[in-house]
Amino acid sequence: MSNPATPPAVGLLDQGPELIFPPDFLWGAATAAYQIEGAAAEGGRTTSIWDTFSHTDGRTVGGHTGDVACDHYHRMPADVKLMAELGLKSYRFSISWPRVQPGGSGAANQEGLDFYRRLIDELLAHGIEPWVTLYHWDLPQELEDAGGWPVRDTAFRFADYAKLAQDALGDRVNYWTTLNEPWCSAFLGYGSGAHAPGRSDGGDAVRAGHHLMLGHGLATQALRAGRADAEIGVTLNLYPVTPATDAPGDADAARRIDGLANRFFLDPILRGEYPADLVADLREVTDFGHVHDGDLATISTPLDVVGINYYSRHVVAAPIEGAEPEKYWRAPSCWPGSESVRFVTRGVPVTDMDWEIDAPGLVETLRRVHEEYTDLPLYVTENGSAFVDTVVDGRVDDTDRLAYFDAHLRAAHEAIRAGVPLRGYFAWSLMDNFEWAWGYTKRFGMVYVDYDSQLRIPKSSARWYAEVIRRNGLAA
Ligand code: NOJ
Repeated sequence: MSNPATPPAVGLLDQGPELIFPPDFLWGAATAAYQIEGAAAEGGRTTSIWDTFSHTDGRTVGGHTGDVACDHYHRMPADVKLMAELGLKSYRFSISWPRVQPGGSGAANQEGLDFYRRLIDELLAHGIEPWVTLYHWDLPQELEDAGGWPVRDTAFRFADYAKLAQDALGDRVNYWTTLNEPWCSAFLGYGSGAHAPGRSDGGDAVRAGHHLMLGHGLATQALRAGRADAEIGVTLNLYPVTPATDAPGDADAARRIDGLANRFFLDPILRGEYPADLVADLREVTDFGHVHDGDLATISTPLDVVGINYYSRHVVAAPIEGAEPEKYWRAPSCWPGSESVRFVTRGVPVTDMDWEIDAPGLVETLRRVHEEYTDLPLYVTENGSAFVDTVVDGRVDDTDRLAYFDAHLRAAHEAIRAGVPLRGYFAWSLMDNFEWAWGYTKRFGMVYVDYDSQLRIPKSSARWYAEVIRRNGLAA
């Protein structure tokens, strides 16, 4: 795919009554291995931290696991056919590390690699660009047993796995994402414990975040050495963070949460430094002794693209007595050093995750990354919403999800008009899947999955998205 160095002129985008996207805009949909593959004990795959976590009592809603999930491992050709019917130009999926390198070190498992070879063949045969994520949260359990991401060696294991994956698949994969949402791996995995491996220690969360980024930098170098023209990036989940009022205490709460949610990753990766205020905020949980000389240079190894996952906004306020109850990533333990900051709900419409719907926040986020951090091409590597779906006469009319996509694509278009070099958009998700700690209770798919029969039913949003792709734009 070509990546023009400068954004197209505004005039190209406004054609008649439609909002037209730039030529070669990469329209896609995304999934992740543990969320859809199933076949957890097949083909030589070993255990990941998500197998262990989901099989531990009380960790996921209903005790749900990814053992079967969407059974994509066995249904892959039909799923790719569905993607082709939707007209997808690209498909973003992740490789299960324990499927291709059992135990997280040593030799490759050819049977595991063969699954991804067949998937890539199938995609290319249908004219769909494969976009590979190396780490979408399924750390081999053996590496967690050796200390997990808080331990430095895990970064080197990750780079080794990146090389192994690229040696096997790199001839036909142009786009590589090292990590998906390292904030979640670090702060939900090791801070609040809401995600695997379910540990709760602020210092470990910060160390995990650093070693994830070190692994990202080392993996980027390994991928680059394997193929100079690969398009390499990382995917961050970014949020606009807004103070609830003009009060100085609320502004400080917003600065702190912005530091932990956004700048913790953006600054080291794109500027080669940790923000000084963040380091000061975290003084009680770590002295940053885990940061070695040269790490930040490795972490800021030049990239080709930046991936942004956008879902919602954080509105925060200074602490007061009687703060609201813990909720998912609002849990105080996700925010070491800033545990007493309050997350405020404004009463605007929310999705089934209780996340506020805020399309202008996507424009803000894209503009911020472009204007404050980088000229690199940007991709929305995930955007989407969970809503309760019902099947009526064999159809799922998900008007709320369709409206969410529509509003966010208008925002994406606005960002392009404002000069952001946005080169593509991936809907989350292609199909309903295992929503981590929420199990199968939250549906994000454009395609409905009946988990009993494994029947796939494209929802109204899928048909609408296919039309958007076909027109390369939206009706104005
Ligand atoms: C981001 C994660 O990458 C994905 O795995 C998850 O399902 C969606 N957000 C929705 O929560």
